[in-house]
Amino acid sequence: MSGLKKVFIKTYGCQMNVYDSERMVEALGGQGYVETNRAEDADMILLNTCHIREKAAEKVYSELGRLKPLKQINPDLKIGVTGCVAQAEGEEIMRRMPVVDLVLGPQSYHRLPEHARELAEGRKAVDTEFPAEDKFTELKSRPLTRRAPAAFLTVQEGCDKFCAFCVVPYTRGAENSRPATAVLAEAQGLVDAGVREITLLGQNVNAYHGHDRGLAGLVRDLAAIDGLERIRYTTSHPNDMDDALIAAHGDCAKLMPYLHLPVQSGSDRILKAMNRKHSAEQYLRLIERIRAARPDIMLSSDFIVGFPGETDADHQASLDLIEAVGYGASFSFKYSARPGTPAAEKAPVADDVMDHRLHALQALIARQQRAVQESMVGREVGVLFEKTGRMAGQIVGKSDYLHAVYAKGDKALIGQVCRVRITESGPNSLGGELVGSS
Ligand code: 5AD
Ligand code: SF4
Repeated sequence: MSGLKKVFIKTYGCQMNVYDSERMVEALGGQGYVETNRAEDADMILLNTCHIREKAAEKVYSELGRLKPLKQINPDLKIGVTGCVAQAEGEEIMRRMPVVDLVLGPQSYHRLPEHARELAEGRKAVDTEFPAEDKFTELKSRPLTRRAPAAFLTVQEGCDKFCAFCVVPYTRGAENSRPATAVLAEAQGLVDAGVREITLLGQNVNAYHGHDRGLAGLVRDLAAIDGLERIRYTTSHPNDMDDALIAAHGDCAKLMPYLHLPVQSGSDRILKAMNRKHSAEQYLRLIERIRAARPDIMLSSDFIVGFPGETDADHQASLDLIEAVGYGASFSFKYSARPGTPAAEKAPVADDVMDHRLHALQALIARQQRAVQESMVGREVGVLFEKTGRMAGQIVGKSDYLHAVYAKGDKALIGQVCRVRITESGPNSLGGELVGSS
């Protein structure tokens, strides 16, 4: 076969998977692959999967069923499952779906080029070890092509917290931080390629220990990079919000005023059963301290409804906590029993009860989100424009507070942080007028 081969990658789950997918495509670049956004044209299809809830995992199998006929059209097509379902289910995936040629866990994707060669020779491969070598050190440095203004950068992976509901410690392994020097070099490369905003990623990012002053130290060193204008990080655990990081929110202008700080439940009884190791009151006091450092900070959280043993009173405690905090956004999920986790052993809450609670919680979250969005009208905010909008002459970007913002403006402003006066609040975005670029 001659010429370039094409890889199609479909990404499920969290932002870390988005980052991993980019790196996998880049790694295959050395094997002569280019990315395509059409599965029908591909020589290799990768599904980069998520195992966090049952629905997320099941999606993979239905997608594999849909992809199967493509192998009849192109017998050389190779299909791989990567990410967290690959890690959790391993060989079982090939047993259930013989159409799969490669099963590759999230800690081993630096070996993708090797596996691509094996597949080309007609072999199949399963690689779900936690290898001794570090994938980030093994991967080649990133290509210097021009990039979109906002990028993700993984700095930490894995989790040692063992929340009773969560598969992450099993799929992503123990906490592991990349050294600050490696992160700073990658960030500089991204900025050289046109990136203006970096979101630092980690399953437990504020437990980052690749810098002698922790995540706060990394944020401050990143802030010294000329041309990098905005820094964000996600996802954080309340118990790892230390004083230095809170202080950085107060005095590091490049650190954006938005913090995703999942609490999961407002009930102390459920928090204990979840092994979260803090109370609702401790969380509320932490929020007070963060707001004292940065009064305009926007907060968001994740909530699980129907954790085993959750009563109406526990559910009410979650609603009360949401009322007390006033979130700018939040994400809520029905509890999903995950194989191998401690909570999966316990009797589940009835599905209709879960539905009812999810509905109540989502209604409250939506009300808060609307109120916060409406309170932005009349305010002036920074917006990093990222692309053109659907209407002619429109550009779209993200505000300091992570709201999507539309404005009339020249597409030459894409990649710049501009001052925008917010004039209207829609269901999922804000509209505004340019005041001038900063
Ligand atoms: N069931 C439902 N939601 C879950 N999450 C994690 N594990 C589960 C589960 N077993 C949610 C948590 C977490 C988010 C990423 O997904 O709220 O913060
Ligand atoms: Fe899904 Fe968690 Fe894996 Fe991200 S780390 S893809 S959320 S299971």
